[in-house]
Amino acid sequence: MTSDPMHAFFTLHRDLPREGPGEAADIHWAAALASLPDTAQMADVGCGPGGDISTLLEVAPKGHVTALDKTAHFIAAVRQNWQDDGRVTVLQADMARIMNRYDMIWCAGAVYFMGVTQALDAWRKSLKPGGVVAFSEACWFTDAPSDRARALWDGEHPGMTNAAGIKAQVDAAGFETLGTRCLSDAAWEGFYQPLEARIAALRPQADAALNTVLDEAVEEIACWRAHRDEFGYLLSVVRPK
Ligand SMILES: C[S@@+](CC[C@H](N)C(=O)[O-])C[C@H]1O[C@@H](n2cnc3c(N)ncnc32)[C@H](O)[C@@H]1O
Repeated sequence: MTSDPMHAFFTLHRDLPREGPGEAADIHWAAALASLPDTAQMADVGCGPGGDISTLLEVAPKGHVTALDKTAHFIAAVRQNWQDDGRVTVLQADMARIMNRYDMIWCAGAVYFMGVTQALDAWRKSLKPGGVVAFSEACWFTDAPSDRARALWDGEHPGMTNAAGIKAQVDAAGFETLGTRCLSDAAWEGFYQPLEARIAALRPQADAALNTVLDEAVEEIACWRAHRDEFGYLLSVVRPK
């Protein structure tokens, strides 16, 4: 197997249940906080392989989910699972240009591609009256992270801030924060355990480029397990003021 770095990255990042930390309880919490109606129109932006769609439909059983992502093989996986379900529309699209209006825009681990303030600015017009954006964003829990944690996040998200910094970015977009919650260890393990299994399955045939990507993922997982008191994901539910 030969591969370039991008090909190697997407060799690892496919056929996984999700592409970032998250668990069903996060969506139940956000829906309750937002008093989401059971008929809610929802968008799952940056949906990845669609790991959150079934829970979104659980919290709004008479609702609808528009699941969109820019990455073709994630969208192909979501289509395979959901194309026969009339409650789900699947789109390969840019989250900067979402259409229609929603009671909840759900964005798990993808808002940083746009930036919090920029994303909320862009999505304001796509919210129904009373509608919310619920997003998870990587977040420092300490002002003095270890060198190892700093090195990881300098590479992945150089602009990463703390809870006060995320709230300031929400305020700057003219939104109010209804509530926040740190993602649990179970939410992280729900991402990392399947990723570890995929690393183990790919390792025997991996070439140099893929080994580099696998090694980086192993370090990311080990860093979180060793330093999870220093960083995590903050889930925020916000609404235009
Ligand atoms: C960290 S993954 C999270 C995926 C999913 N929400 C989950 O939790 O499993 C981020 C996702 O954002 C998508 N993405 C990045 N930029 C995007 C854009 N401009 N428009 C749509 N999707 C985008 C990526 O393709 C990827 O699937």
